[in-house]
Amino acid sequence: MNKNIRRELSAVARVDREKLNGHKPLLIWLTGLSGSGKSTLSYHLERILFDRGLCAYVLDGDNMRHGLCSDLDFSAQARTENIRRVGEVAKILLDAGLVTISSFISPVREDREKVRDALGEDAFVEIFCSCPIETCEARDVKGLYQKAREGLIPEFTGISSPYEAPLNPALILDTSVLSLDECLTKILDVLRQRGLPV
Ligand code: ADX
Repeated sequence: MNKNIRRELSAVARVDREKLNGHKPLLIWLTGLSGSGKSTLSYHLERILFDRGLCAYVLDGDNMRHGLCSDLDFSAQARTENIRRVGEVAKILLDAGLVTISSFISPVREDREKVRDALGEDAFVEIFCSCPIETCEARDVKGLYQKAREGLIPEFTGISSPYEAPLNPALILDTSVLSLDECLTKILDVLRQRGLPV
């Protein structure tokens, strides 16, 4: 860290923002294979929270990789850097008072745990989209599994690159069994338990 930089402090306290927004900030972290339903769930959840008057925002893997993370590939090292950056952005959004929904494969347990440790247990809710790879592959919404099987995409998660499931997530959603509405109901239940007015 450069010795010539220092932190500036905001005149708006965290409690001031919470009072204005009517809720505390929270990071809802969805992890799971490509095609496991993370983005669909995230954007539906964002809409519900917004409609109920909460300040909510989605950070999505494909979107972030178009901008802030466009210099990163899918090597192990780059994925770790991807999640580090997402963690830093999430920290800023939480500081701004938002309920942040992050939607990334985030295949490395330690990378996810680093984000949780940086924000604190209270601010972090991990949700595992545990859809079996056979179902993700059958869906193949973006046609990427087929390309990966043909060897056209290297280091594809679940096929030629590992995925480490969370050990103790707040919620496990098997999206091959549960409907979208059932998943959203379960997420909202957890958010209520964690103190959000939803
Ligand atoms: S992560 O592993 O670094 O967390 P991230 O969530 O940002 O991944 O991006 C995943 C998305 O990138 C997938 O949903 C898919 O659309 C696309 N993608 C392209 N190449 C790969 C790959 N090799 N492995 C996984 N996803 C890939």
